[in-house]
This record gives sequence, structure tokens and C-alpha cells, in this order.
Amino acid sequence: MTDSRKFSAIILAAGKGTRMKSDLPKVLHKVAGLEMIFHVINAAQSAGVSHIAVVTSPIQEDLRNNILAKASDETLTMAVQQEQLGTGDAVKAAIPLAGNPDKALILFGDTPLMRPDVLQQMVEHSADITLLGFMTDTPDGYGRIICEDDKPVAIIEHKDADQRTRQIKLCNGGALAVNASLLPELLNSLENNNAQSEYYLPDIVGLAHAQNISVGLVTCHQEDTMGVDTKNGLAKAEALMQNRLRQKHLDNGVTMIAPETVYFSYDTVIGPDSTIEPHCIFGIDVNIDASVTIKGFSHLEGVRAKTGVQIGPYARLRPGTHLGVNAKIGNFVETKKAHILKDAKVSHLSYIGDAHIGEGANIGAGTITCNYDGYDKHLTEIGAGAFIGSNSSLIAPVKIGEGAYIGSSSSISGEVNADSLALTRAPLREIEGWSVKFRMKKTKSDEAEDK
Ligand code: UD1
Repeated sequence: MTDSRKFSAIILAAGKGTRMKSDLPKVLHKVAGLEMIFHVINAAQSAGVSHIAVVTSPIQEDLRNNILAKASDETLTMAVQQEQLGTGDAVKAAIPLAGNPDKALILFGDTPLMRPDVLQQMVEHSADITLLGFMTDTPDGYGRIICEDDKPVAIIEHKDADQRTRQIKLCNGGALAVNASLLPELLNSLENNNAQSEYYLPDIVGLAHAQNISVGLVTCHQEDTMGVDTKNGLAKAEALMQNRLRQKHLDNGVTMIAPETVYFSYDTVIGPDSTIEPHCIFGIDVNIDASVTIKGFSHLEGVRAKTGVQIGPYARLRPGTHLGVNAKIGNFVETKKAHILKDAKVSHLSYIGDAHIGEGANIGAGTITCNYDGYDKHLTEIGAGAFIGSNSSLIAPVKIGEGAYIGSSSSISGEVNADSLALTRAPLREIEGWSVKFRMKKTKSDEAEDK
């Protein structure tokens, strides 16, 4: 951003959030795999704020610790609002910690769909106070923006509005950008003689108008400022976010024949010309190169996949899975902490955990790495070009040399040299005519029982 002025964000999160019916603080509920408050923090940071203060209540120590533990930015501080006396009072608690900005952007921590470009328009607006508004046919519950000559002059909360005011469709989105030098005095002038006996932040608009302080308006879509108060609201926010993410990946050149069935995380990265078949789920931390195919009903989390990789259908790839160029993971394969290099194949019904599989190795159907002894995890190393016969158990720690061949149904531990054949299969034993005698014996005993 070119503007050299300093912008801070004050994010309000001290509300009780009781309607979520959860022990987890409201703003820590996740949308697309990220806590709501971090969606807001990320949007503010993308919009160019230099400092963030989050307002919490005295009992929300867990929330404060949680945010501070995950925040990557040292310029994020925590404020405490002693009593929940309203949004205007909440902002007051943050002012000493807001980093002495030129403008303060006031946001709500339960609005995960807030867009950075909208916030940027707000902080860059020339007015001393910039409101965020949206038009809607369903304005119930929202504060209404009162305009004179198309300019905002006041906000009236739904509960305080008369019938005529309730007809207004231009609603307050909640967020505000305010010239920081004016903010303390405006907040100190707020009164709580209203339907909820609260100090309403939006009342600063009426106060500003009375003092000839300039007020501007930025408009957005209703969903951009949607606040989440209930699990129903959380599900709606998730659905809206998923639509945004699907659109983003389609725009980036990812092919999906049924995008409405695919679920992404906020941080999913997929290169162009990759194909995602229906019903795939992307947990956090997945980074897929270009031209990768992920077949239906696959679940990925913590995965890196290079170009040309094929995955699924019905694959479960867990954190620490790295797939080299053109590697193949087939149906009903589970992987975890597994580096599967270029051209290697794990085509059917396997568990590959804590493993390093060399280039071009072939892992037969039903192969299992026995990586856990009940106390520790152990490593399986398979050299380039090795062939693991079907239904083998690789009892880690185990090291199979390059080009080695493991006979099907073997249980292998220790080391197998490069290019060797190793097998632990019991030799075939055949007893001619045995089954005829067995059947006769069984038939006779059944007849005796029936008598
Ligand atoms: C607010 C606006 C309303 C606007 C709507 C948009 C006020 C008074 N009203 O109403 O004009 O249309 O947003 O969604 O601002 N909070 C605190 N401390 C408090 C009270 C609230 O930190 O004492 C926090 C809450 O945790 C929440 C945010 O402020 O994140 C908004 O509070 P809430 O009571 O939900 O305001 P709305 O009813 O949504």
C-alpha cells in the first residue's frame, strides 16, 4: 500500500458468545480450518495495519493465550474490557494498546468473511470516520444508517428504531475506520440511554455529524460482514467461505466437475491443470503442484504433492506426506509422515507410515508398515526401484536396499541388501486327498448328532 499513514486494528471479541452453546470461546470456532478471529486478523494485516489490539473479557484468559500462541505478529496485543458495557466501551479498553496510529480500524472478531480489499477501502477513505454499510431486504437486527443528502449522519440500532426507521435497508456492517486523534473524545461522549443500556460504538456517527466531523461510507455485500453467533451461523459462514474458496481454485485453473462437493481449507494451494474429483476434503496445510489428479472421496491433510502425482480414489493422506513427481497413491491407501519419491507407486490397500520410499519403488497391494511398537515409532526405508510383494508386513525399523525384491506375504524386519530377494513365506505343503477324508468325517459326525 502506498499510504504512509499508520493504521491499527482494534478487534472486539469480549462478548460472551453464549448462543454458540460451547465451552470454546466463540471467536476460536473455525471456518475453513482457521479460527474466526484469525480470519479477521489476516484480513486486517492484508489491508496493511501495522498494529492489532484484540479486546477480550477478564475471564477469557484461555482465549488470550490461544491467540498469542498462534499469532505470528509481535505487534498484536491483548486488551481487557472489565465489564461488557457495549461496543463503544470495548473500544475504549484497546486505545492505550493500539500502537498510536493515524487511523484505527475497528472490527468484530466473529466476522470471518471480512475481505481485505473492503478494509483497505475503509482505511484509505479521506473521511475522519468511515462506516461500512450494506443494502439488504432482511435488515432485522442490524443498525440502520440514516442519511441526509446521501451522507451518513447517524446509526440507529434495530432495538431503538421506530417503524419508519426499520424500513431503511442500508445497514451498518459494524466495522469502522476512525481518525485516531478524534476517537477518545468521541467515545467519552457516548451515553447508554438506549434499549440495551449499552455504550453503542455506532453512536459516534451522530456525535461526529453534530461536530461537523466528516463521515464517509464504504459499501460491501451483506455476507462480508456477517457475524457468527450460533452454530447455525457458523455453518452458514462455512458454506459461504467454501464457495469463495471453490471459486478461487476454479479461477486459478483447477478442474472440478462437482466443486460443490469439494471442501478446502483456508490455506489450500493447488496448481493449475490439477483435477479434483468429487467429494474430496482438504484439511489444513496442503500444497499441490500443477497437473496433479486427486480422485474422488480422498482426504488430505499436511500433504505436499509434486506435478504428475495421482491420488485416490478413497485415499487418506495424513500430515507429513510428501509425494514426488509422478508418484501414485491408489485406492484405500493411508499414509503418514511418508516421503514417497518420484515414480514410486503405492497402488492399493496399504498403510505407509514413518517411511521413506525411493524413486520408482513399487509397493504391492496390502503392504503395511508396522511402525509402532506401542511406545515408539520406527522408520521404514525402501530403496529406489525396490519391489515389495503384496500383503507384506514391514516391521520397522526396517531398511530394504535399492532394487531388492520382497516376496509376497513376507514379514520383514532388519535389513535387506540391494538387489536381494527376501521372503519369509512358509513353503507350500500339500496332502493329497485330505479334504475328501475331512468331509466324510464331518458328514458322519453331523449324522450322528442329528439322531
Ligand atoms: C453491531 C452494531 C450494529 C451492526 C451489527 C453488524 C453495535 C451497538 N451495533 O451489532 O449496528 O448492524 O454489529 O453485525 O455496535 N463486544 C465486546 N464488548 C461488548 C459488546 C460487544 O467486545 O461489551 C464485541 C462482541 O464480542 C462482538 C462485537 O463486539 O464481536 C459485536 O457485538 P454485538 O453485540 O454482537 O453487536 P451486534 O448486535 O452484532
